[in-house]
Amino acid sequence: MSEPRKILVTSALPYANGPIHLGHMLEYIQTDMWVRFQKHRGNQCIYVCADDAHGSAIMLRAEKEGITPEQLIANVQAAHSADFAEFLVDFDNFHSTHSEENRELSSQIYTRLRDAGHIDTRSITQYFDPEKKMFLADRFIKGTCPKCGTDDQYGDNCEKCGATYAPTDLKNPKSAISGATPVLKDSQHFFFKLPDFQQMLQTWTRSGTLQEAVANKIAEWLDAGLQQWDISRDAPYFGFEIPGEPGKYFYVWLDAPIGYMASFKNLCDRTPDLDFDAFWAKDSTAELYHFIGKDIVNFHALFWPAMLEGSGYRKPTGIAVHGYLTVNGQKMSKSRGTFIKARTYLDHLSPEYLRYYYASKLGRGVDDLDLNLEDFVQKVNSDLVGKVVNIASRCAGFIHKGNAGIMVAENAAPELTEAFLTAAPGIADAYEARDFARAMREIMGLADRANAWIADKAPWSLNKQEGKEAEVQAICATGVNLFRQLVIFLKPVLPLLAADAEAFLNVAPLTWNDHATLLVNHQLNAFKPLMTRIDPVKVQAMTDASKEDLIASQTDTGASAPAGNGELAKDPLSPEIDFDAFAAVDLRVALILKAEAVEGADKLLRLTLDLGGEQRNVFSGIKSAYPDPSKLDGRLTMMIANLKPRKMKFGISEGMVMAAGPGGEEIYLLSPDSGAKPGQRIK
Ligand code: MSP
Ligand code: ZN
Repeated sequence: MSEPRKILVTSALPYANGPIHLGHMLEYIQTDMWVRFQKHRGNQCIYVCADDAHGSAIMLRAEKEGITPEQLIANVQAAHSADFAEFLVDFDNFHSTHSEENRELSSQIYTRLRDAGHIDTRSITQYFDPEKKMFLADRFIKGTCPKCGTDDQYGDNCEKCGATYAPTDLKNPKSAISGATPVLKDSQHFFFKLPDFQQMLQTWTRSGTLQEAVANKIAEWLDAGLQQWDISRDAPYFGFEIPGEPGKYFYVWLDAPIGYMASFKNLCDRTPDLDFDAFWAKDSTAELYHFIGKDIVNFHALFWPAMLEGSGYRKPTGIAVHGYLTVNGQKMSKSRGTFIKARTYLDHLSPEYLRYYYASKLGRGVDDLDLNLEDFVQKVNSDLVGKVVNIASRCAGFIHKGNAGIMVAENAAPELTEAFLTAAPGIADAYEARDFARAMREIMGLADRANAWIADKAPWSLNKQEGKEAEVQAICATGVNLFRQLVIFLKPVLPLLAADAEAFLNVAPLTWNDHATLLVNHQLNAFKPLMTRIDPVKVQAMTDASKEDLIASQTDTGASAPAGNGELAKDPLSPEIDFDAFAAVDLRVALILKAEAVEGADKLLRLTLDLGGEQRNVFSGIKSAYPDPSKLDGRLTMMIANLKPRKMKFGISEGMVMAAGPGGEEIYLLSPDSGAKPGQRIK
């Protein structure tokens, strides 16, 4: 036996300002399956991750919710951790980039880069929000496209005509945060001299560290010549102050990958025998892999190895890049209900269905992966329930009834057993190469053969004949052994199914090498159904609930806002609009004829409104403030009457009522003075 390998694995650190969705899960599930495979094989494999907690987006979101960034990231970390755990993503450590370990390592790496001459400083001119007193990143500036004249475009490109430009090219620029007109202002910035590493990167990116397609993309960037990378941001910013440079902060992407090291450091500090240097020192013989999506390749395959090299650390062994998730052939869409949060999925379906589906479709490439919801139901039901679990359920009963649950020693299918054994190295190679789809195809091929063999032997018919008892027992014991092999092969993908199978098989946790042995004269435990079929109704319920999430988050009351700390949330003012834009909104006085809870919707009330003769049905996410909705009956309020009707799970919503407040119990429905009549226009 060869020495166990020492392997450190990471997934990209999810931003701490939003929920985990099924697109993220493609990455975390895939990494987890690979890590579980390595552990299954007896290697030392450690999987660390963290929340990516810094940056202006997180600072602004916390401000909007009226909480501190620390509170926001703590809330989000709890939610993320729960989602990952329920999807059976088994991190050895899940930390945060806003941690002491990360502060120390970031300072150390920066200082080493600076002392080695890899940091430059120079002044740059940028838009500054004079009200908010902060520099504005491109996405926080809006204005009129200099090319086609479309209003309300972001500072770097036009969604209408596709033009790209500098924020200073925008006409009539406005701060998206305060609405103020930004002014140009100079400030000293710090740059990482990436060109110092051109040679090293040219070699490193071609040394088997990257998939072919990724290496080719990087080669284009390398050929074009590398630029210095701006690693500093001015206060106010949520992050780490640069050592010796008050008011200057590390750009979030500087300390984010260092977060991998920091999470591992945090684990080492409380794990005897786990040595940080053994994994990160320049001469480390451990392997290091980062799993990431295709959108963040430049950070991982250029900046990060250069930072490591320049500060005296080892570089990654490999970067595993995957494509994006689409649902039903299209980009995930909130209005189609295909922007599915991890939590929403878990509310309706078992995590192993998705783990298997992703595995069955994930190759080595960087192509996008489609979650086709019909195919999902069909594939999981036919492969896992129809093929794998079926073998055990066909055989177990006869062993319990005919032989007190004891598997006899006789092997009724030596050739088939041999075929399973010979297939094992190929399946292991496929896992190792992250070609999960090939591994699943080979495993299901074996399951097909086992099922065909059992169907041919038909123990259920033999059982009715006299004198065939021994044969029936031999067939069923063999069937259970084949099932056990399949479970061993599938365990990295389906850890829960494996645990339930181990309980039924009455065996210690299975490891990869167990596939080389068979159970003989072995007592089984009672058989319980190991997996049930996916009911398509649940899939529909999941997409419906995803639409409902959207509605609740779109209502003017921000139903997702947390309780807050007593301070009123300050919503930034929107950019100015002209009178015509205002006049296009048809605001009316409305009488609430009836307000009622909507069954199956946590946040919504159904309002029947009278607009002076015309009735409207409106869904509104205000239930948290009006637990007894009937109290609203007979009250006047204000509504937007010409909003395009929107189809929802519960019916069509024909407008929107107006309310203020941060959310939760603090939602205040607006009302006109007494005397106003339903249907009157608000001007
Ligand atoms: N915080 C950065 C990563 C820092 S790593 C030092 C980030 N966060 S993220 O939350 O936007 O994305 C986390 C990972 O999920 C990334 O690898 C990203 O590519 C992946 N995905 C996010 N949306 C995805 C899909 N729709 N499909 C597949 N992967 C997706 O980037
Ligand atoms: Zn344009």
